[in-house]
Order: sequence, then C-alpha cells, then structure tokens
Amino acid sequence: MATDKIQRTLALIKPDAIDKSPEIEKIILEEGFTVVDRRRVRLTRAEAEEFYGEHRGKSFYNSLVDYITSGEVLAFILAGDDAINHWRRVLGPTQVSRARHEAPGSIRARFGNSNNDFHNAAHGSDSVNSAQREIRFFFPDLTLEPVLTGEGAKEY
Ligand code: TYD
Ligand code: MG
Repeated sequence: MATDKIQRTLALIKPDAIDKSPEIEKIILEEGFTVVDRRRVRLTRAEAEEFYGEHRGKSFYNSLVDYITSGEVLAFILAGDDAINHWRRVLGPTQVSRARHEAPGSIRARFGNSNNDFHNAAHGSDSVNSAQREIRFFFPDLTLEPVLTGEGAKEY
C-alpha cells in the first residue's frame, strides 16, 4: 500500500546467505527499493556486539554475535515508500520455521537455515531510530539528505 512516506532502512545479508545475494538483490529491485549504497564487510566481534547492543544480556546474544561474525555480510541502504516496514514484510518472521509457515515466499522462508530457526539469512531495521543508527553504523562517512515523511516532518 502506498503511504507516501519515503524512508531509508538498513538491510543486511547475513554470512551464510551471502552466496544467495544475487537472488536476494533481485528481490530487492523487484520490490521497488532503491539501493542508495552497499558495502561488503566482515564485522569484528566488538562491532557485532555494538550493532546488536539492544540484545546485550539476552540468552541468545553470544550465539547471535557468533553467527553475524562467521563471515562477511553485505549491507545495503534501501530507500522507498514505507521502506522500514516494507523490507520487514519482505523478510518475513524472525524464526525460519514460522516464516515458512506464515510467509513461504519471504526471504527468511526461502533462504533461512532449515536446521537453525535463528540463522535467518537477512536483517532489517525495525524503526526509524534503529534505521538511522544502523545506517550510520555501516556507512559512517556517508552524508544523507533528510527524507520527507507523510506528515512533512524531516527524518533521516
Ligand atoms: P530480533 O531483533 O528479535 O529479530 P529480527 O531480526 O526479526 O528483528 O532478534 C535479532 C536476531 O537475533 C534475530 O534475527 C535472530 C536472533 N535471535 C535468536 O538467536 N534467538 C532468539 O530467541 C531471538 C528472538 C532472536
Ligand atoms: Mg530486530
């Protein structure tokens, strides 16, 4: 649904899905996103701990950091109408088995690991604030112009 709310979001292809990146990029373009920038990078443990800082202290934090540092990731800034929620819908639910049940065409359903519900192939920012933080985390040198929201407010 068009909401006339242009946003940017941070998309990540996680290490074990990076060989599927051509297929995932095809979906990104078919879905109508604009790729503002992209970067392939291997996160250090300290960087991964910072990126996933909101999950610090949770039972899965260490395994999450292990997973995201197990190889290179491909980071994208995606722009488009309602980009944050749009990309989360394209990803599907967090758990691979749930994604396969509830959203069989989604990226996590198609490219997630059958043997590990949380090795779910890709990431997407979950709010305007996290998108801003995550874009700056991966693209610290990039200067971005504000985008206009539906209410005429400026967001980055
Ligand atoms: P979360 O932010 O809850 O999910 P999402 O990626 O859909 O925003 O969690 C971040 C990642 O942490 C998630 O993609 C997979 C992993 N994770 C676990 O390993 N175990 C868990 O119980 C949860 C909730 C997430
Ligand atoms: Mg999240």
